[in-house]
Amino acid sequence: MTTEITNIRLLVNTRQQNQLLRGKELASLPCLQNAYLVIEDGIIAEFGEVKNRQSKVPDVVDASGQLVLPAWCDSHTHLVFAASREEEFVDKINGISYAEIAARGGGILNSAKKIAATSEPELLRSARSRLQEVIAYGTGAIEIKSGYGLSVEGELKMLRVIKRLKETSAIPVKTTFLGAHTYPLEYKENHQGYIDLIIHEMLPVIAREKLADYIDVFCETGFFSPGETETICRAGMRHGLKPKIHANQLNLSGGTQVGVKLGAISVDHLETMDDDAIQTLAGSTTIGTLLPTAAYFLRMPFQPARKLIDAGCAVALASDFNPGSSPSGNMNLVVSMSCIAMKMLPEEAINAATINGAYAMELQNETGSIMVGKKANLIFTKPVPSLAYLPYAFGSNHIDKVMINGEFQKSRI
Ligand code: NIG
Ligand code: FE
Repeated sequence: MTTEITNIRLLVNTRQQNQLLRGKELASLPCLQNAYLVIEDGIIAEFGEVKNRQSKVPDVVDASGQLVLPAWCDSHTHLVFAASREEEFVDKINGISYAEIAARGGGILNSAKKIAATSEPELLRSARSRLQEVIAYGTGAIEIKSGYGLSVEGELKMLRVIKRLKETSAIPVKTTFLGAHTYPLEYKENHQGYIDLIIHEMLPVIAREKLADYIDVFCETGFFSPGETETICRAGMRHGLKPKIHANQLNLSGGTQVGVKLGAISVDHLETMDDDAIQTLAGSTTIGTLLPTAAYFLRMPFQPARKLIDAGCAVALASDFNPGSSPSGNMNLVVSMSCIAMKMLPEEAINAATINGAYAMELQNETGSIMVGKKANLIFTKPVPSLAYLPYAFGSNHIDKVMINGEFQKSRI
């Protein structure tokens, strides 16, 4: 089936070839004014300027006044969870810190208890509804982590739920094994015992059943050290899982350096960076994935996006959707917050949330820009005065429709 979208006021992020964007390159966002786009069987077949165009396609959609963007590529989420944690949100308002909540069995351990008590079908049902929600918010490709299981059974349960989502979802899903999210209570005094469980009990089954694409470790003071991170990642790598790690969120944990040393696809969070961590990242092929809604929700200083970009890093943006530190998977908000709080230019933020996010999931050949051969996963905006208006008017919904594989989605926000 062939569809033509015509009279697009601005077709955003149009590219002839793929490239991971770093440093100054992030500020250049190629766009076409008054454009058309031809979609064949869900794939972008052709695009260009409307002038002189004689359309031969019978199925034409008029997009007058609308901006069309590649759908968001959300490369870091914990979308599978059993329950929300707004009670901790209130605790924090009352002055209790994230670390204190974690130390008394809240936080990740709270989510793990709830995962253990929730059936696989129920987890699938709630995750599917969250996935529908984020697609309506314009997400067209997503990474989802385990990490609230913290036992062989719990981690496999989460990964099987993600596998079902992957098999049934209209958008590409990548899976990350995050068994090393924290130490479960029974291993509080026996860290090596839990690391052995990850390496010898979890990873072989995950590899056999092809349950993950990547391996993640929460490299953080009080969680996993850089040495432990390296051991766990190397074990994952022996099973074909590339590292994508939680680094430098709460402390200068050494996570960035170990991620770069391992050739990680990405190091994510990066709230707490010094010059050494920034220079190490800038000199590497590893992507720095910034999660501003997590910093916002935890009332932490935002990631130093400007310093990272000015140093020449390849930066991506993601939502970190999870019940503890970012209970929102709305990438429009992530993009807006990046401009407002981290002083990214709208062009930089859109590139970071599309093409660089696709690279952070190795999905750059399928999605992340308007390019012939990529999926027609697109955001159609309402009439807005300009591209910069999208992050500027941060409280409004600018999305008119979302298209996935060439089909307009029924669920709207
Ligand atoms: O990415 N930092 C570690 N993990 C999650 C939060 C986990 C939780 O509190 O549930 C994050 O922010
Ligand atoms: Fe996370």
